[in-house]
Amino acid sequence: MTNTTTASTTLDTAAETRHQGLHLQDVTLELGDGEGTVRALDQVNLEVNAGELVAIIGPSGAGKSSLLAVAGALASPTAGDVRVLGRDLAAVRSDGGQGALARFRREHLGFVFQSGNLIPALTSADQLRLAYRLAHRRGRTRTFDPSPFLESVGMGHRADSRPGQLSGGERQRVGIARALVNAPGVLLVDEPTAALDRQRSQDIVKLLAEQCHEKSIAGVMVTHDHEILPCCDRVLEMVDGQLTPVRE
Ligand SMILES: Nc1ncnc2c1ncn2[C@@H]1O[C@H](COP(=O)(O)OP(=O)(O)OP(=O)(O)O)[C@@H](O)[C@H]1O
Ligand SMILES: [Mg+2]
Repeated sequence: MTNTTTASTTLDTAAETRHQGLHLQDVTLELGDGEGTVRALDQVNLEVNAGELVAIIGPSGAGKSSLLAVAGALASPTAGDVRVLGRDLAAVRSDGGQGALARFRREHLGFVFQSGNLIPALTSADQLRLAYRLAHRRGRTRTFDPSPFLESVGMGHRADSRPGQLSGGERQRVGIARALVNAPGVLLVDEPTAALDRQRSQDIVKLLAEQCHEKSIAGVMVTHDHEILPCCDRVLEMVDGQLTPVRE
């Protein structure tokens, strides 16, 4: 790409890359140093298309969270390539450093964690406003309306509630809404149902799958919960840092 790229071609490229999902090629991640080195990921290949939710199961310590860290630009692989929406993360880092990588993460990636990871003092609406503000210039935040995002996860009526006033499932739904405010192309989800009962777990994963389908998001969800797997489009298993298909 040249420096003379116009605004419209930048937009075209952005639209194009949204359909390129997540692509990991021969990714190895070694953690620790010296004799304590652990190979958390061992030549992993993974392709997640826009509009699908892929589940990753596997025993504790298998490398599932490491995979999300690498896909989410939170850890650099020891070897191999990670492409998010057609962009090579190593190139983003070498072109613009950690700042560019952090910006890329805020603008294109959504994260959902086990407990929702909400900020205790903020209302549901303010959790979303903050996420939006972190990814945009100050001047534009006045136009942001969190309501449609909260409504899309069935939380429109709890916009003014703080996390302490919500149930575990409700907190998780606010966390999902927050992950979606910046229209991410890739959604990375780690154990979203660990704190929930069976019915709420099903509801949350159906909601995640629906959002991936409707918004053309490439979704990856790590889980220990086999009951929610039917809600996912594909299932892969991670064992000792290696990924194999369970259901295509
Ligand atoms: N910072 C680190 N330094 C050294 N080793 C690490 C580090 N973080 C994780 N590991 C090791 O890497 C391997 C993979 O860890 P990871 O957290 O990806 O597993 P996981 O599949 O997510 O497990 P769980 O289901 O328990 O969350 C484990 O052996 C773990 O001990
Ligand atoms: Mg983990």
